[in-house]
Amino acid sequence: MTYPTDDRARLGLRESATFDRPTIAAIQRAAETGIYDIRGWGAKRSLPHFDDLLFLGASMSRYPLEGYRERCGTDVVLGDRFAKHPLHLDIPVTIAGMSFGALSGPAKEALGRGASEVGTSTTTGDGGMTPEERGQSKYLVYQYLPSRYGMNPADLRKADAIEVVLGQGAKPGGGGMLLGQKISERVAGMRTLPEGIDQRSACRHPDWTGPDDLTIKINELREITDWEKPIYVKVGATRTYYDVKLAVHAGADVVVVDGMQGGTAATQEVFIEHVGIPTLAAVPQAVQALAELGVHRKVQLIVSGGIRTGADVAKALALGADAVAIGTAALIALGDNHPRYAAEYEKLGSAAGFFDDFQDGTDPAGISTQDPELAARFDPVEGGRRLANYLRVLTMEAQTIARACGKAHVLHLEPEDLVAVTIEAAAMARVPLAGTDWIPGR
Ligand SMILES: Cc1cc2nc3c(=O)[nH]c(=O)nc-3n(C[C@H](O)[C@H](O)[C@H](O)COP(=O)(O)O)c2cc1C
Repeated sequence: MTYPTDDRARLGLRESATFDRPTIAAIQRAAETGIYDIRGWGAKRSLPHFDDLLFLGASMSRYPLEGYRERCGTDVVLGDRFAKHPLHLDIPVTIAGMSFGALSGPAKEALGRGASEVGTSTTTGDGGMTPEERGQSKYLVYQYLPSRYGMNPADLRKADAIEVVLGQGAKPGGGGMLLGQKISERVAGMRTLPEGIDQRSACRHPDWTGPDDLTIKINELREITDWEKPIYVKVGATRTYYDVKLAVHAGADVVVVDGMQGGTAATQEVFIEHVGIPTLAAVPQAVQALAELGVHRKVQLIVSGGIRTGADVAKALALGADAVAIGTAALIALGDNHPRYAAEYEKLGSAAGFFDDFQDGTDPAGISTQDPELAARFDPVEGGRRLANYLRVLTMEAQTIARACGKAHVLHLEPEDLVAVTIEAAAMARVPLAGTDWIPGR
């Protein structure tokens, strides 16, 4: 038997699982400041996730495809239910909505550059459409949010698709926060807000109180844009089965489900960690809702919240998603939390790999800031190139897995290709526990 050699253990000091050091620090911080903690990023607690699933590669009973010679498609069509011009993307990985305001102008531009280079879409956010972003984005999805910040019909018409945001995985039922230090003259102008004053955006749309009104709103958006643009409805994952059914009834072309691991620019810590359900639990609920309405693969499903690797992409698709969206991982690809800024993160009381104070506007990488000097550090061309590389890797990884499972298209992956390594994941994802044919709850 080996004993821990660490001094505390030798002295017989035992860390409490309930009052561990981060918990103690949080209580001390609350006692000192009297203010709740706000931060960016997504849930940091350990949750059942795509890592708890494994693929059953082909061997005898299934026939794998040869990587160098046999094609494995990655393209996806989004929004062909009612829209005249659905999006034809080359890869099933899209860039999620992140606001200009939360992010700097050059960072938004880089997202457009990176996405366009590999033939996928990016999305505006709570703060409107910047000309740089529109200019550099081959496919730009325009968010229509409860706040209506930056919303104007001219920009709606310039978009390639419209995403009606009902909620986000990081804070379902809550609105956004943008602290005064990030409300520069330009951000204030686009949002028609006073400069430098903290703002909270609305948690619900002022124009409707339920699904029937949403139907009217979606029709209005279709009329304004001549029925050309796909209309997405984005929900934070909670009562996903019902929300997806209602979104389909309201007329959505595409439903976006964002799990609780989903990133945010700024929300209360207590919200991020304690509201919503894991992405893994949400996907089968969404797929069940679509299947029961007979529209699975007809109303497309985009899944987000904690997507990091091609394996995550492949697992989301296998569970029934048509595409995924990434936020946090895209920012990391741009250069967020890069060790190059280690010394500066330390000065901010953080560290490379831990920095989540997106609300402060002090990001040394120049991404989640409106400080002109910090933003000028970030090169949108280089950032876009890095993002495009990362998106290529995600796609190639997903293809590798799909071929190993004998699929000629990543969208041919299916739940039957998956098993779970924990009972929790098996129950949530509704796939068998590895080595058994047992799906808990079935
Ligand atoms: C910096 C930042 C800003 C965001 N801003 C918005 C926004 O304006 N509107 C929105 O619907 N979601 C917003 N989100 C959430 C993303 O659209 C997406 O749902 C989430 O990031 C996906 O999870 P992931 O970060 O784990 O990939 C933001 C996320 C981040 C990290």
